[in-house]
Amino acid sequence: MHARLLSALVSAVLFAVNTAAHAQVVESTSPVAIEHIAVGTCASCHGWRGYSIAPQFPVLAGQPAKYLLEQLQAFKSHARGDANAVGFMWGMAAPLDTDVMTALANYYSRQTPHAGARGDPQLMARGKQIYQNGDAAEGVPPCAACHGPYAAGTDKYPRLAGQHVQYLLKQLRSFQNNLRAVAIMHGVAQGLKVDDMRAVSTYLRSLDP
Ligand code: HEC
Ligand code: HEC
Repeated sequence: MHARLLSALVSAVLFAVNTAAHAQVVESTSPVAIEHIAVGTCASCHGWRGYSIAPQFPVLAGQPAKYLLEQLQAFKSHARGDANAVGFMWGMAAPLDTDVMTALANYYSRQTPHAGARGDPQLMARGKQIYQNGDAAEGVPPCAACHGPYAAGTDKYPRLAGQHVQYLLKQLRSFQNNLRAVAIMHGVAQGLKVDDMRAVSTYLRSLDP
């Protein structure tokens, strides 16, 4: 009896030692570790696998990895500095090193984006016009020239299709007032009126992947 108890204890201890040793060799960028960060931390705002439900939190699912990595770096270096970036993302990005950021960016870019959501038909129609043709009188170039006909995202430009209206609208304002200081988008947003920002954001939200 004693011997059996002893051997059970020994194997329990050995199991614990083994597990601890194993935990140490698990890399911080392993799929399990990345899913753990994504589900345990990021999902509380960005939703399960980046399918954000709340309109102030951007959808991350299907966003190109290069863009996601650049944004995480911009939060960490404080280059992206509007109020929500400062309040929500500076602290989130601070402890992440480049390897973990890269793995998180790859993780979210692999998720298949969801279908868009239709909004007010008049706003969508006006938004489509701006997206495809710009507004020459106000010096606004066609968005499609860079973001492509379906706003699907490329190595150079983020996906806009299906993104939340509230988030898009706020980014356009932040580009305009340079709190998110990106020269290209500052130039684009300079002549955009608030109504047209809302229209183009409503159109973009309606686009399917
Ligand atoms: C407490 C809420 C919250 C948490 C948790 C959070 N985020 Fe965010 N995240 C935000 C908000 C708000 C924004 C938009 C900031 C802005 O408006 O500039 C954002 C923006 C981003 C963006 C930029 C997306 C784009 O389209 O430009 C990335 C990438 C991102 N978050 C990744 C992450 C990752 C990875 C984690 C987990 C480590 C995380 N976030 C955790 C709130 C959060
Ligand atoms: C000359 C090329 C160019 C044109 C034209 C352009 N964009 Fe952009 N856009 C970019 C680039 C580059 C970025 C990425 C900025 C960064 O690195 O933060 C961007 C980013 C954005 C973002 C931020 C996405 C996110 O997830 O945070 C929005 C919103 C956006 N563009 C909307 C528009 C709209 C609306 C138009 C048309 C009125 C437009 N863009 C026209 C190049 C362009």
